[in-house]
Amino acid sequence: MQINPSILSADFANLEAELVSIASADMAHVDVMDNHFVPNLTLGTAFVKRLAQVSPIPLDVHLMIENPDKWAIGYAQAGATSVTFHLEAAREPISLARNLKAAGVRAAVAIKPSTKVSEIADLIQEVDMLLVMTVEPGFGGQPILVETLEKIAEARKLIRNSGATVALQVDGGVTESNIAQLASLGADSFVAGSAIYNSPDRANQILRLRGLALAASNPE
Ligand code: DX5
Ligand code: ZN
Repeated sequence: MQINPSILSADFANLEAELVSIASADMAHVDVMDNHFVPNLTLGTAFVKRLAQVSPIPLDVHLMIENPDKWAIGYAQAGATSVTFHLEAAREPISLARNLKAAGVRAAVAIKPSTKVSEIADLIQEVDMLLVMTVEPGFGGQPILVETLEKIAEARKLIRNSGATVALQVDGGVTESNIAQLASLGADSFVAGSAIYNSPDRANQILRLRGLALAASNPE
C-alpha cells in the first residue's frame, strides 16, 4: 500500500519544507500540467530536477500534458522515479512505455474518467503501474466521482488476468472516508493532495490513510 501525497496542494513558495513534511510517505506525487491537456499550468523539467535533488522521498511524476511521446523522457532524466503519461495524449503508448523503462524509470499509464479500462488492455504487459483517475484531471480538492469506482475493480481484474505485476493507483478526491473502499476494490497506490496537505498533522494523516487502506485490502 503506497501513499503518495500530491504537492499540488502544497505551499509552492516553500516546496523543500513541504516535501520534508511528507517524508514518511512512499513517494511525492508531482502533477505536471501544460494548459492544453488540462486547463491548468504547473511546472516543467527544470523544476522537477530541483525537486528531485531536495526531496527525501522518490518522485512520482504525473504528466497531464499533450505529446508525452516527446516530453516524458525529460522527466526521467530530471530524476523522477516513476513517470505516468495519459493514454489519451500518447501517440505510441507502447513505445513510450518501453522508452521510459529503458531510461531507468517506472513507466505508468493513466486514464481519465471517460476512458474505458478495456482501452489499456494491450498496454498492461508494458507498464509498471496503471493510474485510474477518480476526478477530471486538472485541479486538486475535487470530490471523487463515484462513477469511476467500478473502473477500479475492472482494472484490478484486467491486471490479475494479465498475470503481470502492475500497481493500481487512484488519484483525485482520495480521503480518509473513501480510501478503505478504494483499497477493497483493488487499488494499492493512493494519491492524496488536499487530504494530506490540509491536515494539521501530515505524518499522522499518512499513517492513518495507509492503515485504513491496509485493513481493507484483499491480499491475493
Ligand atoms: C488532479 C491531480 C491530482 C490532485 C489530487 O488532476 O492529478 O494529483 O493533486 O488532489 P486531491 O487529492 O486534493 O483530489
Ligand atoms: Zn495527479
